[in-house]
Amino acid sequence: MTNTQNFDKATQIGFIGAGNVGGSLAVAMSNAGYPVTAVGSRAFASAQTFAGRISDCTAYENIQEVADRADFVFISTSDDAIKIVCDQVSWREGQGVAHCSGAASVDLLQSAVDQGAVAGAFHPLQAFNSVENGVKAIPGVTFGIEGNDAIQAYLRGIASDIKGIPISLRPQDKVLYHVSGVLMGNLLAVLASVAASMWEKFDHTRDEGVRALSPMMPAVSSNLDSVGVPQAVAGPYVRGDIGTVRKHLEAVSSSAPEYLALYIELALVGLPFAVEKGALAPERSQEIKELLESYRSTDSI
Ligand SMILES: NC(=O)c1ccc[n+]([C@@H]2O[C@H](COP(=O)([O-])OP(=O)(O)OC[C@H]3O[C@@H](n4cnc5c(N)ncnc54)[C@H](OP(=O)(O)O)[C@@H]3O)[C@@H](O)[C@H]2O)c1
Repeated sequence: MTNTQNFDKATQIGFIGAGNVGGSLAVAMSNAGYPVTAVGSRAFASAQTFAGRISDCTAYENIQEVADRADFVFISTSDDAIKIVCDQVSWREGQGVAHCSGAASVDLLQSAVDQGAVAGAFHPLQAFNSVENGVKAIPGVTFGIEGNDAIQAYLRGIASDIKGIPISLRPQDKVLYHVSGVLMGNLLAVLASVAASMWEKFDHTRDEGVRALSPMMPAVSSNLDSVGVPQAVAGPYVRGDIGTVRKHLEAVSSSAPEYLALYIELALVGLPFAVEKGALAPERSQEIKELLESYRSTDSI
């Protein structure tokens, strides 16, 4: 154990919070040669499962023991528990601590800073639903990083070593950054669920909808990756097919009125991208906008 801000690949790492993100990051870090040596969690059983995935990692019943044994501690609890955990622990001068939340800034770790620790944030911009899938999903992921120069250098190094892409964030940028991640990682799944549910309106099952529609997602992702915005934006709005848009609005308002507001608002926010692409004349865009807005009053949500 050292009391230093010179964190490097020999720095002993601890985790408090043995869930999906903590478990995935710890396995990735350990595989990349970082010594993950201590873990604690709310339930000792979670910490034991975590430690069982990593060689030379010990599970502790008391989270203070994790902080006492590690020089750098990742708090990978749920967001609401980060400050509670940080406030419970006695920190050392020069020790490092980072949380994994995308929405919260380092402010949550103020009690550690008051005791001389240095604080940061290390947020993987990815959806994690298990450790097994999480470890596989880390390569190529962007990591939003906050903290002083020493912490940033260390966390950027970890992100690169586990094949991620580090970016620096200012505290004031965190919430919008997180909203963008939730739009893509979480609300995209909601949008897919809505699209698949529409299949029940024409006598097919939602599962059939999922099967039929989900191959479009990698195609859209690949288009975005190769040609970017606005070139990847497509559909009847981009083509200026106002007759098709009218038919959509009639069908959705009569057969799936619960989704009408979603359809209208998504279409409206998409129009400027179609104009930017050069595929939709501003006058045609205005006509489609007025048509979409005229259905807002019949919106049943
Ligand atoms: N899930 C994602 O897609 C994702 C993506 C990026 C970042 N994040 C961030 O990563 C962090 C962890 O999220 P997660 O998805 O890994 O959550 P999770 O799977 O629910 O894991 C959270 C872990 O924290 C432990 N915990 C909760 N309260 C605690 C406390 N008071 N003391 C000690 N341990 C406690 C839980 O304990 P027990 O199991 O021991 O009961 C659980 O193992 C959050 O800050 C989240 O915003 C999540």
